[in-house]
Amino acid sequence: MIKLSAKDPGSFGGDLLVYFIPETGKKTVSCSNAAVRSSIKQAWKSGDFTGKKGQTFLSYPVASNKGFAAGRVLVIGLGKTEENEDDCREQIRMAAGTAASKAGGLKVKTLMAVLPEKTGLADADLAECMSEGLILGNYRFDKYKTNTKDDDKNSRVECFFLHDGGLNHGKVRRGMKLGKLAAEAGCLARDMANEPGNGWTPAQFAEFGKKIASRSGIKCRIIDKPGMKKLGMGGILGVNQGSALPPKLVILKYQGTKKGPTLMLVGKGLTFDSGGISLKPAAGMEDMKYDMCGGAAVICAMQVIAAEKPKGINVVALVPATENLSGAAAIKPGDIITHFGGKTSEVINTDAEGRLILADALAYGIKTYKPDAVVDLATLTGAVIVGLGHHRTGLLSNNDSLVKQIVAAGDRAGEPLWRLPLGPEYSKQIESKVADIRNIGGKGAGTITAAAYLQEFVGDTPWAHLDIAGTAWNFTKKSYVPKGPSGIAVRILLNLVRNWELLKKS
Ligand code: BES
Ligand code: MN
Ligand code: ZN
Repeated sequence: MIKLSAKDPGSFGGDLLVYFIPETGKKTVSCSNAAVRSSIKQAWKSGDFTGKKGQTFLSYPVASNKGFAAGRVLVIGLGKTEENEDDCREQIRMAAGTAASKAGGLKVKTLMAVLPEKTGLADADLAECMSEGLILGNYRFDKYKTNTKDDDKNSRVECFFLHDGGLNHGKVRRGMKLGKLAAEAGCLARDMANEPGNGWTPAQFAEFGKKIASRSGIKCRIIDKPGMKKLGMGGILGVNQGSALPPKLVILKYQGTKKGPTLMLVGKGLTFDSGGISLKPAAGMEDMKYDMCGGAAVICAMQVIAAEKPKGINVVALVPATENLSGAAAIKPGDIITHFGGKTSEVINTDAEGRLILADALAYGIKTYKPDAVVDLATLTGAVIVGLGHHRTGLLSNNDSLVKQIVAAGDRAGEPLWRLPLGPEYSKQIESKVADIRNIGGKGAGTITAAAYLQEFVGDTPWAHLDIAGTAWNFTKKSYVPKGPSGIAVRILLNLVRNWELLKKS
């Protein structure tokens, strides 16, 4: 929980009061609280604190020290003000994440963060990034721990108070709200990914979609197995054959304009990927519960869009959800399936299943909703980790202006992307002797040939594919991103929608 507080920080009687101090090179401390100022000066003299990025110092006010009611005061160095706005945003999120993690270690329950002046950011942006860093940095997953009492690692702050530090109160409030909604959605996406395969199933994706709809008034439609059969969705049905749980296609529709552009989002909701008959090795297979992170990003972003109700844009979201298991009826290598729309595919490897379920969702969504642009997100290939590690999301697209917007949205979120090419030479790799296409591309360019498969189903619609296999799990270590699920792309999508510009045809 985060609240804006107008209370004088000196009289805040909670567990921890936090100030953020920039590195100015001068020995003057810009801090509104005189008591904090003198204590920082002391630390400065000793050389222990200069405002450098990531530096912290904790003090325990004594009764005689007027101006402090809090149990502890934490001072965090921000470093020098960055030149680039996106870097300034990241600087604040990182410092806020540091505050949240220190607070966790101290078992702090209530914390007041005082916004710093002169950060290179507008007041609303500062409050937004501060709120994001605090909430994302306070994330823990202990749902299945039956005894958390003695577990220091799972301690979390119950309530954050944000103080405007003398900045424009209204703007701070607006920014805080944006940051809070986005960060809470990011934490929710992490929860979904942390859930094991038996805790987050296709049916649960469907239930969650309905919940968002009933709360916000947007539309939700679930296509069940019989509906998929009628529509001829051979990809998702084929992948589902080896599973005892029925598949779901969750569709959420937000309408913010009658005439304006429609953005379609598609997220891979593979709730557990064993590889199917082309079984994966046992070591690390448990991590394949996170193969639904594309779906989680899409549905969690929709929760915010449904709450914010942006004008001038329509957003339709599709999450094809199933497990990939190897039951008696499972799809076999060599089997040929027919996707929605009639294209046939030879399934050479049942572990290349993400593209099969996405193909149906893309083809069906484009035919039904006629979107102006499509963005799909998927933990699609191990190859993207070979190429980009865990630091950047792979981006493949048929439209330069869409790429530009997505890259900008990612930089703004501190979730960078890197574009890889597409082209006929890669599409040639997925030619089949017996069907229209096959589901793997042979040696080399695994991330690109997977995207080339998807490209077969989008026609001329401006489309971008985000391969988040490397970034949805164990993303670059940061104070506000824990090991394990990162909640990647929730904030990329929100930035994209919040800053939507009409796409230029290219
Ligand atoms: N879900 C996996 C991709 C993946 C791998 C995500 C490792 C995260 C970590 C996907 O369904 C898959 O198995 N892809 C195969 C494709 C191959 C058979 C062409 C892969 O990347 O090995
Ligand atoms: Mn797979
Ligand atoms: Zn998969």
